[in-house]
Amino acid sequence: RIAGPCGIVLFGITGDLSRRKILPALYDLANRGLLPPSFTIIGVARKVDPSLPEKVEAAIREGANTSVTETTLKQLMSGLVVVNGQYNDIETYRSLGHAMDRMSAERGTNGNYAFYLAIPPELFPTVLGGIGTAGLCAEDDGWRRVVVEKPFGHGLESARELDDMVTKVFHQDAIFRIDHYLGKETVQNLMALRFANELYEPLWNSAHVDHVQITMAEDIGIGTRAGYYDGIGAARDVIQNHLLQLLALTAMEEPISFEPSALRIEKEKVLEATRFYGPVGESAVAGQYTSGWQGGEWVRGYKEEPGIPADSITDTYAALRLGIETRRWKGVPFYLRAGKRLGRRVSEIAVIFKYPPFLPFPSTDGLGHNALVIRVQPNEGMTFKLGSKVPGSGMQLRDVTMDFAYGHAFTEYAPEAYERLILDVLLGDPPLFPRHREIELSWRLLDQAESHWAENPESIAEYAPGTWGPAASDRMLARDGRAWRLP
Ligand code: BG6
Repeated sequence: RIAGPCGIVLFGITGDLSRRKILPALYDLANRGLLPPSFTIIGVARKVDPSLPEKVEAAIREGANTSVTETTLKQLMSGLVVVNGQYNDIETYRSLGHAMDRMSAERGTNGNYAFYLAIPPELFPTVLGGIGTAGLCAEDDGWRRVVVEKPFGHGLESARELDDMVTKVFHQDAIFRIDHYLGKETVQNLMALRFANELYEPLWNSAHVDHVQITMAEDIGIGTRAGYYDGIGAARDVIQNHLLQLLALTAMEEPISFEPSALRIEKEKVLEATRFYGPVGESAVAGQYTSGWQGGEWVRGYKEEPGIPADSITDTYAALRLGIETRRWKGVPFYLRAGKRLGRRVSEIAVIFKYPPFLPFPSTDGLGHNALVIRVQPNEGMTFKLGSKVPGSGMQLRDVTMDFAYGHAFTEYAPEAYERLILDVLLGDPPLFPRHREIELSWRLLDQAESHWAENPESIAEYAPGTWGPAASDRMLARDGRAWRLP
């Protein structure tokens, strides 16, 4: 589907997220013919920068997923307008309103605009207030939508305050809370895997599943994102949103349809039933990377990164042991882990099956648990690990794998997550965007871990770069007689 006449108002057009993700995604959409010729980008920036258009162009050339065609780029750039002003000055929003009207008249956006808040969360109230006061959210002539980037609050209470604020300005259907993991092909494929096949569903429960491991590992440090990251940490940055969404999609019941509310209802039910698997103190591990060698390079420790206080207790690694109180999942731990400066970049969901109750073989050395591993990235695909007989005269067993790789199976273009999600916003298509209730339920869990770490800062353990996190995390699984997979 192609978006109708519209434009995007990009708050934070000079920021990291716009440069790396949003602007290239807009270009890719235009290049694939999915944006209307009238498409307009109104960037709002605090500082006047005459070279901004060149910077936008450079960001597109660097980040685009599709090849850059000069005519498409020119067409997109011809719809770029910049409004300068402070976010706390009502005049900024008046100028923005004029720009929106002007572009409606000149390019034919028909008054349809999505406001994209790609700005630090502390600025959300100011900007939402400005949009509201200037009446830019009024849908008198065209639709108005808002895209809110995470973090949606800092905890349950502030998430509620943020929601009150957004819903004062925009109506529920116009609010798109973006979680880019839900835009990833492999994440959407989880639903196809589970509900378009007969094979897995009968096994997808506590009778056959031993436990589930969800990993989001990155090998990079925090780079230049100190201002955003410190005080937030790994758990708030990615577990509260991406990993708990992965858990919900892995564990939910089959939705009755692919309607937005049907899917969200099932995810909410899972999150509602999710608890720590045992006392929080034994089910939540936090860590922070130290300096050391990684991939042949000496890297700084977290506390030595530019802009990080030397006494910071922010977690750059977090692992949780959760359980889901439902008939399907009772007794199955879901282990979640996320961290920076780990062994390598990999995001995956591993469903580890129980060991067979009886094995009629003389030796079972070399036989592990069956496991279905969904590789979210990189090398998108799936691996099924199963036991097989080793060729030869004896009856020796060994684990082998069956692989499905997107790169081999499909020749179709795979859109980047942001591309898919931004198009959904412009089309007004909400199934992939979490509702406020999901966000509240996620914070309800996370807040417990965060309070535990805040009260016991000594429990935040150090780990060396290039490793798989603090030893305490391995111990958490070892106590259950299990171990983290080496992805
Ligand atoms: C973002 C986090 O949501 O996801 C970042 O804020 C993280 O800290 C990024 O680096 C990773 O995204 P991806 O798509 O590369 O896994």
